[in-house]
Amino acid sequence: MIRAFIFDLDGVLTDTAEYHYRGWKRLADEEGFAFSRDDNEHLRGVPRRESLMLILKGRTYPEPKILEMMERKNKYYLAFIQEITPRDLLPGARELLEEIRAAGLKNALGSASKNAGEVIERLGIRYLFDAVSDGFSVERQKPAPDLFLHAADQLGLPPAECVVVEDAAAGIEAARAGGFPSVGLGPLERVGRADAIFPSLDGVHMTDLYKALNITSE
Ligand code: G6P
Ligand code: MG
Repeated sequence: MIRAFIFDLDGVLTDTAEYHYRGWKRLADEEGFAFSRDDNEHLRGVPRRESLMLILKGRTYPEPKILEMMERKNKYYLAFIQEITPRDLLPGARELLEEIRAAGLKNALGSASKNAGEVIERLGIRYLFDAVSDGFSVERQKPAPDLFLHAADQLGLPPAECVVVEDAAAGIEAARAGGFPSVGLGPLERVGRADAIFPSLDGVHMTDLYKALNITSE
C-alpha cells in the first residue's frame, strides 16, 4: 500500500543540479582546481561541505578558507536561483505532484539542500507538499536514510508506504537503507540500484510508477 511520495528536488523536480554544477565550476576555476561535468555527477545529492571535500580531492585547507569557499559557491548558486519561476519545473513534475494529491495521497520533499525552501517557493509548488525535509532537518545526509525518515515521520507513515523519487546514487542508497521503495531518474550508472528507473518524470503517471514498482494501487 503506497500512501505518499517523497521527492528529491535538484535534478528531479527542477534542473537546479545544473546551477549547483555551475556554482562549483566557477569556484573551481577561480581556485585553479580541475572540475568537470563528469566529476559533478558524483556530487548529485551530496551536501555542500562533502561536495567541496570531493572537489578538493584530499587537498587540505584551514577551516576559515573552507567556509569561505562554501559561502562563495552558495553566493553563486543563490544568484542563479533568483531567476527561477514556475516555468523551471521539469516536464511532468507538476502533473505528477497534482495527480498524487488528487488521488488522496501525500507529497513530501526530501532534499539535502539548505536552499530547497526558497526553490519550491519560487517554483510555485510549496502548496503541493504535506511535508518539507531539507538541509536543515537532519545531521546525517544522504546516503544515510535520515532525511527520508524525517519526511516519513512528518507524514506519520512507515517507509514501506512512501516511494522515494531520486536522481542521485546517494539518494537511492538512502532510500534503500531506510526501507523505502525507490524510483531512480537518469542513467543506469547513476540510479541502477533503484527499484524502478525512468529517464525523467516527463509523461510519467502514478500508474506507470506502480507498474514499474510491481505495486497494485488499491
Ligand atoms: C542537493 C544537491 C547537491 C547540493 C546539496 C546541498 O542534494 O543535489 O548538489 O550540494 O543539495 O545544497 P545547498 O543548497 O545546501 O548547498
Ligand atoms: Mg537530486
